[in-house]
Amino acid sequence: MIETLFRNAFGAAPAVSGFTPGRVNLIGEHTDYNGGYVLPTALELGLNIALSPRNDNSIRIISEGYDEVAQIALDGKVEEHWSDYARGALVFAGKNGLMSGGADIAVISNLPQGAGLSSSAAITVGLLKLARSLSKSELDDVKISQIARQIENDFIGMPCGIMDQMAVAIAQPGQALFLDTAALIYKVIDIPESHHMAVIHSGKYRLLNEGRYKERKEECDVVKESLGRDDICQISDKDFSSLAKLDNVYQRRARHCMTEHRRTIRAAKALKDKDFKSLGQLMVESHISMRDDFEISLPAIDILVEDAVALGANGARMTGGGFGGCIVACVEKSRLNDWRNALLAKHQDAFYVC
Ligand code: GLA
Repeated sequence: MIETLFRNAFGAAPAVSGFTPGRVNLIGEHTDYNGGYVLPTALELGLNIALSPRNDNSIRIISEGYDEVAQIALDGKVEEHWSDYARGALVFAGKNGLMSGGADIAVISNLPQGAGLSSSAAITVGLLKLARSLSKSELDDVKISQIARQIENDFIGMPCGIMDQMAVAIAQPGQALFLDTAALIYKVIDIPESHHMAVIHSGKYRLLNEGRYKERKEECDVVKESLGRDDICQISDKDFSSLAKLDNVYQRRARHCMTEHRRTIRAAKALKDKDFKSLGQLMVESHISMRDDFEISLPAIDILVEDAVALGANGARMTGGGFGGCIVACVEKSRLNDWRNALLAKHQDAFYVC
């Protein structure tokens, strides 16, 4: 229990505590910094966080599974340690009038590490929401998500979009968030009871700040420059053909953005209409686009996706930033156990997350 962990570490009950889910993206990958739609859903798994403000500028933080309480200064430099996210959250909570000074923090996570299920967005959004409740501020969840994205971009140095922060701040488990990342307008779609969006870790680990995410973003910047617009997901076929002068790599990156955005709109409708055949087909097409046009998949993940579908999922695809991590598969609940056992028997490194 989070209160017990907090009390054992710091000798008193926390002032506030709360749960923030992780997320898995059903479709709409690398569209959130290119003016497109995304369709993530919140997971049952996530982070429980407890916090009490301190009167000085230090942070003491304990995470279940690590015995030591880490003590860091609010104004220290980024250490490339997970506590950077907590520090970033407190620094930005301060800048936005949600809190002043440091805090004692306890965290219990049941999200697997390095899986691309947004544990970092869950920690920043979770802490900002706790600070909001202490300050009784009226900042809404969209603003909280924007601040959390700023922490990633400006404090951590990860040039991500806003999907993860919005997903974990707004969606509840069992709900998908159909989000226009340019206008920040969204609709919540319930995931029908008949199906499960299964998350399977490939066993291949990834680090977003490794640089390949940034490389894709920079390639998209070349397309943006050439078209003179930032919303390259929303281009027409005619706009796309004007890119013929660019190197083929940039044309393929642009084609992924354009087609993925269109698939995401169709997928949201299919989910709402309970049309799992179309949804599954779109997920498979999305994977092929990530594999061939955006080039963010790995051969082992391509095989995992192919087998997931061959063994009876309506559709499957790699999910998240790419180069490892998880796949998401849409599976009829009545088949889930058999499907999962058969898939994991063929893929010894893979494991079921939720
Ligand atoms: C990571 C980023 C998101 C998004 C995805 C790819 O999760 O944090 O902003 O760009 O990759 O869709």
